[in-house]
Amino acid sequence: MINIKENNKNVNEFNLLYDLVGWGAYDDAITQKALDNTYYSVSVYDDTKIIGYGRLIGDTICFLYIQDVMVAPLYQGQKIGTLIMNKLLEKINQIKKENPDLRVYLGASKNKEKFYEKFGFVKRIDADLGYGMILK
Ligand SMILES: CC(C)(COP(=O)(O)OP(=O)(O)OC[C@H]1O[C@@H](n2cnc3c(N)ncnc32)[C@H](O)[C@@H]1OP(=O)(O)O)[C@@H](O)C(=O)NCCC(=O)NCCS
Repeated sequence: MINIKENNKNVNEFNLLYDLVGWGAYDDAITQKALDNTYYSVSVYDDTKIIGYGRLIGDTICFLYIQDVMVAPLYQGQKIGTLIMNKLLEKINQIKKENPDLRVYLGASKNKEKFYEKFGFVKRIDADLGYGMILK
């Protein structure tokens, strides 16, 4: 059965998924610090097995970033990513009640833009907002 936990900070589960989706895995101490400093997260399980994850980072009121949305390859295409995004957006909408001007960003991996467009995100280049930029 699919179930969800909020704000779980399990380093092994995070690193397992990170590895499964092909991003490698951080050193445990680095992941621990990243999870400790995460504002909100959603972990999805098939019974007790971790199969999906997503998190929000940011200042909790003006700027938030959606980060590390990942679904184990065997479970992709079964709306687990949608479940994760809907939970993150639920939290975002709660904060918007306090601050309607909250800005929410994400950096899509290459070719994953269409997934995020389904939830109302637009490519900055198309939105007259200037490019998103990243330090190389
Ligand atoms: C991207 C990812 C999170 C999507 O999760 P998922 O559970 O497979 O997605 P869902 O089943 O909820 O799909 C929702 C919709 O998005 C679409 N979609 C999903 N991935 C897509 C992609 N790469 N390109 C285009 N559309 C995509 C689906 O077709 C579906 O469309 P529908 O509602 O019309 O049926 C998942 O494939 C993943 O973890 N990939 C590896 C890690 C990654 O790249 N994460 C994104 C980081 S920015």
